[in-house]
Amino acid sequence: MSRTVEDRAPVAAGAADAVAGAADASPAGPGLTPGSVLPTPLARPRRLRTTAAMRALAAETAVEARHLVAPFFVTADPDGEQPIHSLPGVARLGTNALLRRLERALELGVRSAVLFGVVGGEEKDGHAHAADDPQGPVARALRAARSAFGDDLVLITDVCLCGYTDHGHCGLLAPTSRGLVVDNDASLARLAAMAVAHAEAGADLVSPSDMMDGRVAAMRAALDASGFENVGILSYAVKYASAFYGPFRDAAGSAPSQGGAAATAPVPVATSGGWGRGGVVHHDLTPPSDRATYQMDPRNAREALREAALDEAEGADMLMVKPALPYLDILARLRPRTSLPLVAYFVSGEYAMLKAAAAAGVLDEASAVREALTAIRRAGADLVFTYHAVEALEKGWLA
Ligand code: PBG
Repeated sequence: MSRTVEDRAPVAAGAADAVAGAADASPAGPGLTPGSVLPTPLARPRRLRTTAAMRALAAETAVEARHLVAPFFVTADPDGEQPIHSLPGVARLGTNALLRRLERALELGVRSAVLFGVVGGEEKDGHAHAADDPQGPVARALRAARSAFGDDLVLITDVCLCGYTDHGHCGLLAPTSRGLVVDNDASLARLAAMAVAHAEAGADLVSPSDMMDGRVAAMRAALDASGFENVGILSYAVKYASAFYGPFRDAAGSAPSQGGAAATAPVPVATSGGWGRGGVVHHDLTPPSDRATYQMDPRNAREALREAALDEAEGADMLMVKPALPYLDILARLRPRTSLPLVAYFVSGEYAMLKAAAAAGVLDEASAVREALTAIRRAGADLVFTYHAVEALEKGWLA
């Protein structure tokens, strides 16, 4: 009989024999046991894990419908619905399909949606003219959703030029002695106009995802000047230059240099002087091939705190960290430094990875999604933008 069992005095004799028998056959074998040579554990955290009811009592974090924001890609075609290859279960939706999805989200308790506009290549140009078009997909979707659901839904819009520029950058390009660069200050006016157009169409919150410096202040001023002082700004304050946006760019047709004249036909130009060392500098008018000059460097964490503080000072109402799982440390560091609601974006590539792994049968999707969303909340996010929102609730994955 093992000492472990002998030490358990209260066990009834018959039961003790049964346990003793089991102990003899234990895979641990007759090795060292606590109470003989090994110390008996001083604390037993397992007491709070004994049953599901006990674990629920001790749980520190919850993920509920009210914490989730559902993203939707919207097109101007009222009846369209095009699946997105790289995002299984997500589609580009015309207004009618969008309204059906929003209704389902509301039934499940998701009271907030973020809208991304998708326009055809022929509507894109160097100035992102379609970005603030009152007949564009986002403005139409906002009006339709507001008239269908009134104030039951919080409507958020992504404000960024990348879906509307022919070169796919989040701002306007300007030729300089370094070639084409994303022109911060020229972009601000377009972004502010886009925010006002969304507010006019009924947005509750506008959500700048472009990472230009000063955009929150520019949007706040433009919204206030247009009488929209109650439209809030959910800033993508800490947005990293991430590989995990790949499927989104496929969905929105917004990869840098994807399509468009500027991307396909670089024009060599000569500019003189400028920042240079004098003389003539030759550059191709080729747009930058990535977003590294405006989105954050994944190597940086202190800089995230700076970006967040700037956006808060400029008037942001909520702050976002994006992507989510690779940046939980950033969420956790930011949490004690701001009283604003914190939002995490569980982005397209994170969604696609889980979908691919589930489809390959290598992990259980329900548990993986529950664990991922719980971890994001635990790290400090009040809200999570996630493509899993409706499916996870519909299938009871979060219960
Ligand atoms: C637009 C924007 C992007 C995402 C949200 N807004 C793409 C990007 O910056 O390239 C990514 C969202 C996702 O991957 O789910 N700038």
